[in-house]
Amino acid sequence: MRFDVLTIFPALFSHYPREGVLGNALEKGLIEIHAVNIRDFTLDPHRTTDDRPYGGGEGMVMKPEPIINALESVERLERSTVVLLTPQGERFDQAMARELAGLEQIILVCGRYEGIDERVRALCIEREISIGDYVLSGGELAALVVIDAVSRLVPGVLGGERSTEEESFSDGLLEYPHYTRPREFRGLRVPEVLLSGDHARIRRWRRAESLKRTLKRRPDLLEKADLSPEDKVLLEQLRDQMQEST
Ligand code: ADE
Repeated sequence: MRFDVLTIFPALFSHYPREGVLGNALEKGLIEIHAVNIRDFTLDPHRTTDDRPYGGGEGMVMKPEPIINALESVERLERSTVVLLTPQGERFDQAMARELAGLEQIILVCGRYEGIDERVRALCIEREISIGDYVLSGGELAALVVIDAVSRLVPGVLGGERSTEEESFSDGLLEYPHYTRPREFRGLRVPEVLLSGDHARIRRWRRAESLKRTLKRRPDLLEKADLSPEDKVLLEQLRDQMQEST
């Protein structure tokens, strides 16, 4: 998977991806990240990337020529898409990450200031993505979020065990609670079932905890979740218990 990021702050892409899971993926050559400096494609001696908006008003707008020139400098692979990061985009989630992970190349355009000249959208942008309903200072953090979530789904990036865990989010539920040693910490004990060695019982407990957490914190996720008949029975019991306790 190849990511090409168009930005006026390319240095932002040289630290975060070098650590941890992404760092390993880069080293193994499973992903590539190319940061393209939009400023290198400006046409004036001052290397201007922004200008005042036509019609007046506050703030600056990113000029179209440097962005389009930068885009045209990027080699396009067959299965690729050009994404603009913007709070006006479609909301990013795990399903979208999975869809994007099926591509060979994602070209991420990071806006700054009030936005980019609308003609860039019209001419080149194939998809607009928002990482949530809040306004960041630019698309760079959002691009890193997309790169991280998509890279984890590229085959080989996570070890076998962890990719199974990833699958467990893909069924649309929140994760069950995790514990490691010591058995007791500041008076809080690890749930007995996890020490039992009874794998079937542990699996059932974890599933129930996942359902409980999702029901309490994110009931909206249950509508789209992948639930077995057993899950549905359990969920009804949990709903009844929750009602009794209120
Ligand atoms: N740029 C600024 N805010 C953003 C957001 N929430 N998502 C994606 N890109 C952005």
